Amino acid sequence: MKYALKINGMQKTVDVDGDTPLLWVLRDVLNMTGTKFGCGMALCGTCTVHVDGAAARSCATTIDSIGDAAVMTIEAIGDTPVGRKVQQAWFDLDVVQCGYCQSGQIMSAAALLTSTPHSTVSEINTAMSSNVSRCGTYNRIHDAIQRAALDGEANVKVERVVCAVDCGLPINPLTIDAQVQGGTIFGLTAALHGAITFKDGRVEQSNFDSYLPLRIDETPRIETHIVPSRAGPGGLGEAATAVVAPALTNAIFAATGRRIRRLPVQSA
Ligand code: FES
Repeated sequence: MKYALKINGMQKTVDVDGDTPLLWVLRDVLNMTGTKFGCGMALCGTCTVHVDGAAARSCATTIDSIGDAAVMTIEAIGDTPVGRKVQQAWFDLDVVQCGYCQSGQIMSAAALLTSTPHSTVSEINTAMSSNVSRCGTYNRIHDAIQRAALDGEANVKVERVVCAVDCGLPINPLTIDAQVQGGTIFGLTAALHGAITFKDGRVEQSNFDSYLPLRIDETPRIETHIVPSRAGPGGLGEAATAVVAPALTNAIFAATGRRIRRLPVQSA
């Protein structure tokens, strides 16, 4: 029987039995081999395509169930803004190993980020949980999706900073706590939005009206843990100022896979 299909924005007519899986129509009839065969039982996700924008297992989608729905495959996903972003993140993080499952992974990721552009880690884990990778590249796949989810929308908010302080025998714990809080706020000021710019050979920022310190609503919860010590009392100063920026950028890398190499973070 003849079926008219809308695939990647083009009309195709195929003459197959109605219970033929879309996967085999794509691969064997239309010679679109980017969609791969894995298990054939809707279990592994390798054959994922989009049907009306939703991720669908093409091995378990019969031709007679498609009707007027628009089918998109890996061959065209790079033409969409989300697909392009996902593929770029894949490229940037060097995700692919053997590559066999990757078209299915990318199609699932693109469907997720189309419906939920700023997906959380748990949303990504849930959406990708049934896409199997035989090389086990799960960490890089998830990092790339997080990166694509953040692309162009970087907006960092620090919720909590935990500091361990070893400054010898603590004489005044409250002063130590205050020093850590002040040092952390100075460090986060520089890390988040403390750009220093030059004009006509001069630094443009002259005081806190033009070099804005962290505001109270941006200030995270800061916890100070004083390490017990019998060493002689030592100084502390603003030690946290120097370490908070690398701690923050390491945390961003752990969450998104993106290395921050310039400060302030918001404009990096
Ligand atoms: S081949 Fe379709 S889910 Fe595995």
